[in-house]
Amino acid sequence: MIATTFFGLESILANELTAIGATKVEPINRAVSFEGNKSTMYKANYLCYTAIRILKPIASFTCADENELYDQLLKIEWWNYMDVDQTLAIHAVVSNSVITHSKFAALKSKDAVVDAFRNKYGRRPNVDIDNPDLQINIHIFRENCSVSLDSSGSSLHKRGYRGQVDKAPLNEVLAAGLVKLSEWNGQTDLIDPMCGSGTLLIEAAMQAYGIPAGFYRKDFGFKHWNDFDKDLWEEICKEALLNQKDFNHQIIGIDHSFKAISIAKENLISARFHKDIELRHTSFEELPTPFKNGTLITNPPYGDRLEESDIIGLYKMIGDQLKTKYAGFKAWVLSGNLDALKFVGLRPSKKIIVFNGPIECRFAKFEVYEGSQKFSKSDQNPDRKK
Ligand SMILES: C[S@@+](CC[C@H](N)C(=O)[O-])C[C@H]1O[C@@H](n2cnc3c(N)ncnc32)[C@H](O)[C@@H]1O
Repeated sequence: MIATTFFGLESILANELTAIGATKVEPINRAVSFEGNKSTMYKANYLCYTAIRILKPIASFTCADENELYDQLLKIEWWNYMDVDQTLAIHAVVSNSVITHSKFAALKSKDAVVDAFRNKYGRRPNVDIDNPDLQINIHIFRENCSVSLDSSGSSLHKRGYRGQVDKAPLNEVLAAGLVKLSEWNGQTDLIDPMCGSGTLLIEAAMQAYGIPAGFYRKDFGFKHWNDFDKDLWEEICKEALLNQKDFNHQIIGIDHSFKAISIAKENLISARFHKDIELRHTSFEELPTPFKNGTLITNPPYGDRLEESDIIGLYKMIGDQLKTKYAGFKAWVLSGNLDALKFVGLRPSKKIIVFNGPIECRFAKFEVYEGSQKFSKSDQNPDRKK
């Protein structure tokens, strides 16, 4: 199978897949390939925080053009995967091929699937783009085509807890990946001082309490498949609940926008974390240090909006706060504004490349040591190794 993810999260997802019992786990570009049975597939959908989709390959072939694509897809016995009365949707990704448009490839593929049914039954299944019973994934690279069934249905970032969002919300899968990249393991207090809609807070809490990634979701693609094993699925859900953990630290979210805090509150209620995560409507600069030796993870504005005119000032302020109030903390900042990030004025001990949508970002770690001397030395001497 193939589990897709964000650039930069491949090895994190590989670890998650290994932990649920997947074998032959291999990170590839923005995805991880692995082997497993039906139970592994259900678990990958339900338990892996950093998976976007779990694809189950059913055929692969070479195709020089759209006619060959049609002919090959017509040969597949689609009735093994869906009934003629069920609905389908096709998602195609095309690169370096004579078939240049993914929408055209999807259309041609849809014709082949419905014609295969028509030839056999004299009737054809309908297409339902939004809520299909069977989501088919066509991946064409040069002359190689692989056909997969999308066992997730809608993307797994749609966890089901987020209603409204404020400006520039993080994708839930990316937020979960950042928490994992930060190596926060629930053994310290955690703060996001620019929490927006609260995505990082909720994803961190889910991991800390052992709440499955798919806990709030109502549906998965595999539930509509002919071979859906309800008993196995219920067993997996029951077992996952036994793995819930106690969490004895604080998670706090801050934002200076009243609207952001109101939306974050709604999302916390929806995820049932409103009693576990504290929200405060204030600015980062006005916040007294909330606890000692904690972890800070945040995603400040990148300066691409009109109201964010003094972006350099904002990043300087973040650095000043870290230096003066957050000694003993591990602080992680995700930013797509690489110039502004330099104005934090601390040397990052790690910088990880991740993509927030199309924006290439750095997830930078700043370790602020107890005693101002330590950080100020490294700060003044750029050659000093940490
Ligand atoms: C990119 S958004 C964060 C999105 C968030 N990670 C999410 O997933 O919804 C940046 C947030 O920083 C907040 N912010 C900007 N300057 C701030 C400051 N000085 N103090 C506190 N919050 C601030 C904004 O109100 C905005 O909600």
